[in-house]
Amino acid sequence: MAVEISIEIAGPAHAAVLARLSGEAFGPGGWSESQMQAGLDAPGTAGFIATSRGSPVGFALWRTVIDDAELLTIGVNPAHRRQGVAAALLESVLAAAAAAQCRRLFLEVAVDNAGAIALYRDRAFREIDRRRRYYRDGRDALVMARQLMQQ
Ligand SMILES: CC(C)(COP(=O)(O)OP(=O)(O)OC[C@H]1O[C@@H](n2cnc3c(N)ncnc32)[C@H](O)[C@@H]1OP(=O)(O)O)[C@@H](O)C(=O)NCCC(=O)NCCS
Repeated sequence: MAVEISIEIAGPAHAAVLARLSGEAFGPGGWSESQMQAGLDAPGTAGFIATSRGSPVGFALWRTVIDDAELLTIGVNPAHRRQGVAAALLESVLAAAAAAQCRRLFLEVAVDNAGAIALYRDRAFREIDRRRRYYRDGRDALVMARQLMQQ
């Protein structure tokens, strides 16, 4: 059965719930409330929260960088995965970035994060670079990008 997901804009007032969602999605690697607050206070940064049956289950943060956009973090509570939550969040980020006249949306993803890479490839993101030892644990990151507007 399809699960109804609603997406809402999140701002600095949502730092606590975003930090909780980040912890649920990433475990100890999630952003703390103060990291989330600092991220949301930075100019050009915005967030979305996904709600299912009245409960927050996923989140995404993105920012504009001149005329490009960057997906900073996205995550979904393990109990609510494979229900289209991340796809709905990504569509909201893509729409907001296009509305902000951004040309491309960039993101970094760990080379062994097969689920996230599948999600991004499925939505027309292409690998454009690889950053060696990008993560604290030494893993490499793929840089992926998707065009948002005709140039
Ligand atoms: C990656 C993540 C955000 C995906 O969230 P999700 O809500 O389960 O993703 P969706 O249900 O929207 O998936 C949409 C599509 O992406 C692909 N996909 C998502 N997760 C996948 C997985 N674990 N394995 C393979 N494909 C996957 C599939 O094509 C899926 O469509 P389908 O379910 O119809 O096959 C989630 O697993 C998560 O929070 N992981 C931990 C945090 C993380 O790695 N974030 C990304 C950092 S770059």
